Amino acid sequence: MISPLRGLCILALAVAAPPPGFGASKSPVRARQGMVVSAEVRATQAGVEILKNGGNAVDAAVAVGFALAVTHPSAGNLGGGGFMLIRLNKSGETVAIDYREMAPGGATRTLYQDREGNVVRDASTVGYRAIAVPGTPAGLTLALAKYGTMKLREIIAPAIALARDGIELSRFESESLKGARKLLERFPESGRIFLRDGDYYAEGGKFVQPELAGCLELIARNGAREFYEGSIAQQIAAAMKANGGLITIEDLKNYRAVVRKPVEGTYRGCHIYSMPPPSSGGIALVEMLNILEGYPLTRYGQGASRTLHLMAEAMKRAFADRAEYLGDADFVRVPAAGLTSKKYAAERRATIDPFLASNASDLGHGRPDLYESGQTTHFSVVDREGNAVANTYTLNGVYGSGVTIPGTGILMNNEMDDFSAKPGIPNAYGLIHSDANAIAPGKRPLSAMTPTIVTRDGKLFMVLGSPGGPTIINTVLQTLLNVIDFKMTVQQAVDAPRIHHQWTPDRLVLETRGFAQDVIDALRARGHRIEERDSIGDCHTILVDPDSGIRLGAADPRNDGRAIGY
Ligand code: GLY
Repeated sequence: MISPLRGLCILALAVAAPPPGFGASKSPVRARQGMVVSAEVRATQAGVEILKNGGNAVDAAVAVGFALAVTHPSAGNLGGGGFMLIRLNKSGETVAIDYREMAPGGATRTLYQDREGNVVRDASTVGYRAIAVPGTPAGLTLALAKYGTMKLREIIAPAIALARDGIELSRFESESLKGARKLLERFPESGRIFLRDGDYYAEGGKFVQPELAGCLELIARNGAREFYEGSIAQQIAAAMKANGGLITIEDLKNYRAVVRKPVEGTYRGCHIYSMPPPSSGGIALVEMLNILEGYPLTRYGQGASRTLHLMAEAMKRAFADRAEYLGDADFVRVPAAGLTSKKYAAERRATIDPFLASNASDLGHGRPDLYESGQTTHFSVVDREGNAVANTYTLNGVYGSGVTIPGTGILMNNEMDDFSAKPGIPNAYGLIHSDANAIAPGKRPLSAMTPTIVTRDGKLFMVLGSPGGPTIINTVLQTLLNVIDFKMTVQQAVDAPRIHHQWTPDRLVLETRGFAQDVIDALRARGHRIEERDSIGDCHTILVDPDSGIRLGAADPRNDGRAIGY
């Protein structure tokens, strides 16, 4: 048998690689037919095998989604939720599958407040009460049934084998598990499975998940209804009841993944498709691109303080609007058309001082109505026909709520924290929300996940997305600007240092060692309050070369992701 790494080299050599390009960690992986880029090599391989066996991009994406639940347990999941953007090449039809988690029927507006109305620490982030009704099994199986070509049992088979036979843990995954010990050891089942009751997995240790393999087998046989109505549902509901959680068997039965129309926009001749509410990602991305389209960024230059200043100002405005207007559009009116209109962007742009930073507290949100006529992981897939999938899904925090439902091996999300526990009080990401994102039964919490597909001249051009809470939107923005404005190769665009501003707190976050000191000094002189962070985002991207059609896969070097093509 060819070792995975040797197989990787052979695949990478399928098309001769040019030099990586200045500043890039490596050359993008080049392939003529299909490409998968995900956060973990065995999940990427599972997707590529499906493509090679004749599956389309959706088949491969669903296989990657199930495999990551096994091999990348901090974010890959069955017990979380997410969003999948699909573009079918023949018709150009692009759809968004919303499989975001839902608040249980017993959830109330003040669920995480004490009698005095204060938000209770950790209540929405740790343990059974933090868990929202998962959407992943429903979303992945809906995508497969509507847009895939293969049988569920064929698609889940790689994940079952990985869970049942076990995987050798990489240094990255073993350190990740150990790093989460404070959270995971609070829940005996999580401590047993993921920490070996304090014995911990070392790099290269064999990580076997028989309970998870069993659940995957049940889903392969009986479909997602096993999770929402069958024996898995019974186990979830029983564990919830025994531990003060809110999710009932009725909540699970009532869960639905939904096919939605993507948010659309344009940017310098490219067409942008991204995620609509309950994600804020697509709307905020298009708003920022519209604002920035008014500046000659190519001339100002990548990484220049003038460019970074304008990007930060666009980010602040989009995040101020996000805080005010965004929520689940099935429950609140979201002025999506206004927020994504070019005229609204022009009005927001006019408030930007080209030299000085605006104060977040003075800024506030705009009036899109005037223009109205309405820890996460990402993977990207392109198949030989040019069909594309951008999928971002999550448990929210790293390892979610920390809870594993006994007997199932399934880690559960803490997505309830993405609601506003109390309007005006920041959540775990420091994000402030309005009433639009208040908790209500059956409502989906606001997300920043931004799976995005870009076309140029009607042809598939880019597929991308990232984890990182609010930094997701800005990571996608910068990767797009790096390609479209700054003419970087896709790997250079993914590698390039990132910035982040989310309006409040009023801080411009820069990746450590990413920027020259005089650029940082110049940003300070413009009035930006600077903060540094080790790394922002994990943007797994595919670009289709417009001339040759070659798929160029760029895994983000910040973590352990891998691009493989064939
Ligand atoms: N849980 C992070 C997000 O959805 O934005």
